[in-house]
Amino acid sequence: MAQYAAMRSIGAYVPEKVLSNSDLEKMVDTTDEWIVKRTGIKERHIAAKNESTSDMGAKAASMAIERSGIAKEDIDLVLCATVTPDYFNMPSTACIISKKLDIVNVQAFDISAACSGFVYLLSIAKAFIESGMKKNILIIGAEKFSSIVDYTDRSTCILFGDGAGAAIISATSSKKESIVDIHASADGTYADFLVTPAPGSVNPANQKMLDDKLNFVQMKGNETFKLAVKTLTQDVVEILETNNLKASDIPHFVPHQANYRIIKAVGDSLGMTKEQVVLTVQKYGNTSAASIPMAINDIYESGRLKEGDLMLLDTFGGGLTWASALLPFAGKTK
Ligand SMILES: CC(C)(COP(=O)(O)OP(=O)(O)OC[C@H]1O[C@@H](n2cnc3c(N)ncnc32)[C@H](O)[C@@H]1OP(=O)(O)O)[C@@H](O)C(=O)NCCC(=O)NCCS
Repeated sequence: MAQYAAMRSIGAYVPEKVLSNSDLEKMVDTTDEWIVKRTGIKERHIAAKNESTSDMGAKAASMAIERSGIAKEDIDLVLCATVTPDYFNMPSTACIISKKLDIVNVQAFDISAACSGFVYLLSIAKAFIESGMKKNILIIGAEKFSSIVDYTDRSTCILFGDGAGAAIISATSSKKESIVDIHASADGTYADFLVTPAPGSVNPANQKMLDDKLNFVQMKGNETFKLAVKTLTQDVVEILETNNLKASDIPHFVPHQANYRIIKAVGDSLGMTKEQVVLTVQKYGNTSAASIPMAINDIYESGRLKEGDLMLLDTFGGGLTWASALLPFAGKTK
């Protein structure tokens, strides 16, 4: 019998500390008005000093496991998407999260696809399950973006926040419950649009690299903005067309939460209503690979997400990478 992949649960973790726009006004030459007007962001959450990406990922994962009703012992793959791993570059954050959750002797690894990481993980989980290799996969998007942000650079420090989201993807024989389609792609031509230049094999760790602040994220904001709007829109048009759907068939459009203006431009050009578009960027900022699962968790917790509701995920990030996914929520809802 054919085996399909279904999203059984969602979970998220948001660190306690809030960094508001007025806090940032005291740190760099900016204003609340500028940030809200250009990005829609009002505040973001920042992990504690002793709180790592794996700590946040493990908390989101625990919630997703509990809500799925699946025993921890039945999880046979743990995947984490992050560009702010606990360590550059081993052990993987997925291995550390597995240890924290006491999921032992199970395959675990990280992927690096920046903000597209969670949807990339969905495609990997779908392939593992449909091939019959795995049955219950824990996927996690977790970021301590504050660890690679230069809080003296006003063009980037206003944008990003920390957090984590997770889901359980399980095998099912029901086509109705299954992930409908995923498109994922990349183009390294634009690798310099979003980059953390060091440490790595190009710029190994040394004093000069620290003096030059190469360990912080660098971004070509304007260029990224334009390409994001174009790619995110095109992606949705393609996946809807392939699946004979219209924008109005989608109750929950969950775009990557980078900038309200990007989300609005994409939503408007697709003819999505305000009710269809999930928006969390105002309170979390851009949490990279955690952004999509944190947004799904938001509509789960508010009771907006109902069992079987179709979701359209749409993301874009460093690499450049982009991805979209069509899937019903196949777990219990509030
Ligand atoms: C970063 C971003 C908000 C900047 O907005 P923008 O409208 O493109 O602004 P610009 O970069 O053109 O800068 C305009 C002016 O504002 C200034 N500025 C930049 N950051 C500022 C801040 N935080 N506060 C006040 N002024 C700021 C610039 O210095 C520039 O001043 P100048 O005209 O005197 O040179 C926007 O480009 C963006 O969101 N890009 C996409 C980012 C993104 O999504 N990244 C992640 C993808 S996953």
